[in-house]
Amino acid sequence: VAETPIDPDVQAAQARPDQGTARSPDAFGTGAREVWSVVLAAGSGSRFGAAKQFLDLAGRSVLNWSVSTAASVSAGVVIVVPDSEVESAREGFAFPVVAGGATRMASAAAGVAMVPSSAEVILIHDAARPLASSQLFQTVAAAVGDDAKAVVPVVEVTDTIRNLAGEVVDRGELRAVQTPQGFDANVLRHAHERLRRDAGIVVTDDASYVQAGGIPLTMVEGESTNIKITNPTDLAVAEALLEVVTSGAANETSEVC
Ligand code: CTP
Ligand code: MG
Repeated sequence: VAETPIDPDVQAAQARPDQGTARSPDAFGTGAREVWSVVLAAGSGSRFGAAKQFLDLAGRSVLNWSVSTAASVSAGVVIVVPDSEVESAREGFAFPVVAGGATRMASAAAGVAMVPSSAEVILIHDAARPLASSQLFQTVAAAVGDDAKAVVPVVEVTDTIRNLAGEVVDRGELRAVQTPQGFDANVLRHAHERLRRDAGIVVTDDASYVQAGGIPLTMVEGESTNIKITNPTDLAVAEALLEVVTSGAANETSEVC
């Protein structure tokens, strides 16, 4: 298995201690392992009607919220943006930036390829989930281990769900899956290699293609406030939720898992 190539930008970012990119993994309860995050922000926001990741949320871009939180628990962050945004993202962030692809999966592959080979745990996060807390990143990273090579945060489904035949589906059996999703770095790299060979695999999140390779998923408790910004109203909801999140009262009453 070939080593993941280290992009010169990665090395440059790592060599800038003044930018605050380096974190001691031990400080976050993840053992002595090197944790990297990949933040996916290369979508076009077709449902939103705009590239939502670059819009303002309480004075910072949605992307900035996601990257800042990821950085607080990571040795480094790879930021994946549309081709047209690579230059400005490089100016705005002291982290490696790479152009994404036409699908979320292609963007994830581009991001993972930029993570240095020294990384042992890789967290993949949707930029469109700006309210995921540092604690959640830390919980997911800490859960990755010998018996848990793919970790997903999940929440209970609160709506009553019916299938297209009109039958109620037992929501006790269902969980909504969030990001950040955490992986043993080698398992994730192998999953991406397999994806490159087999174009027939179509999935919407990273856990799915890892699972397709026979790796079981480990679920940890997600956060009810960790919404994905999909439609324009979600941005207003996120703004309101920010007060709850920053007051520290978030999720104390959630009872998932
Ligand atoms: N994403 C990406 N590359 C793609 C598609 C999506 O990096 N080719 C990212 C998005 O920027 C987002 C996350 O994956 O942060 C989750 O995707 P989604 O919420 O579906 O965002 P979009 O694909 O941009 O929105 P839409 O599906 O409405 O077009
Ligand atoms: Mg999409």
